[in-house]
Amino acid sequence: MKEKINELKELFSKRKTEAQTKEDIEALRLEFMGKKGHITTLMGDFRNVLGEQKREIGMMINSLKQEIEKTIEELKAKNEQKEMDKRLENDKKIDYTLPVEDGVGALNPRTILQKQIVDLFVSMGFTIEDGNEIETEYNNFDSVNVPATHPARDMQDTFWLDNGEVLKTQTSAAQNRILREHGPKCRVLFPGRCFRNEAVDATHENTFFQIEGVVVDENVSVSNLIYFMEEMLKGVLKKDVKVRLRPGFFPFTEPSFELDATCPLCAGKGCGACSHTGWLELCPCGMIHPNVLKEAGIDPEKYNGFAFGLGFDRLVMIKTGLDDIRHLNSENVKLLKQYGTKI
Ligand code: DAH
Repeated sequence: MKEKINELKELFSKRKTEAQTKEDIEALRLEFMGKKGHITTLMGDFRNVLGEQKREIGMMINSLKQEIEKTIEELKAKNEQKEMDKRLENDKKIDYTLPVEDGVGALNPRTILQKQIVDLFVSMGFTIEDGNEIETEYNNFDSVNVPATHPARDMQDTFWLDNGEVLKTQTSAAQNRILREHGPKCRVLFPGRCFRNEAVDATHENTFFQIEGVVVDENVSVSNLIYFMEEMLKGVLKKDVKVRLRPGFFPFTEPSFELDATCPLCAGKGCGACSHTGWLELCPCGMIHPNVLKEAGIDPEKYNGFAFGLGFDRLVMIKTGLDDIRHLNSENVKLLKQYGTKI
């Protein structure tokens, strides 16, 4: 038995010098330590060793086993280091400073246009705020004068969460918090992603973007509203557009309007894009309802204001000529990049 152990010791010394690669090392481990390996067989034979010799042979087997295990670990560590050095050496041949040509993604046309609109409103004294995507029922509906029984709640096909909260259906959901925080003299713009449980087609998405604004002060008038809207649309469409108001209905404004702009494609002469009317319906708006101001702790006897909720995806489509809203939520980088250049 002792002889056998010494033979294995020698065999291992020889074999370990031959193990060069990761695979060689694993083969060596299996040859000695595997289920059918030399050491396992040796341990089986050890059971037949009797009497006095048992202790000495046991110690010899153990020390050989430990030596093999230790050597294999060392071989593995050395090999990993060698491979790492090789990789680093190869990496040196790659020039990471070369400009990347393609495939790095693109800004969504929405992101580009939103930045332009934000800049414009900032230049007109607005503060920019963010809204939550998950909102309480109170913020989304009650606080903006949409009580439980109001038909507007059915109009909005809402994604309700199990805890009674909602995926915000409108940026107006942030009005109450913003008016509370900014107080009675404020100009705030709050863009945001909204969600409605709608069937999706070329002009409807269940996930879409709005840009909402509020202005509150003393003696705010509809003329002020028209002025801001006209400035914004001129800036965004880069055309000298005119706007007009038609009566509308929203629970959070009184009076409420639909704001149209002269079609930027035909300068109001009439074309396919504006159904030959010369006008494009762009932005619902109105004078903030006294109940909404009151609910936000603002005295409606002393202050008033206007609000608007721009259907932002539609504006992006008008600017870029994109004919399907679904592209805006796609990850088609090539297409988004192409349309981004049209903003
Ligand atoms: N929240 C409305 C909607 O999603 C849009 C809107 C209309 C917002 C009029 C306003 C407003 O602030 O004054 O349909």
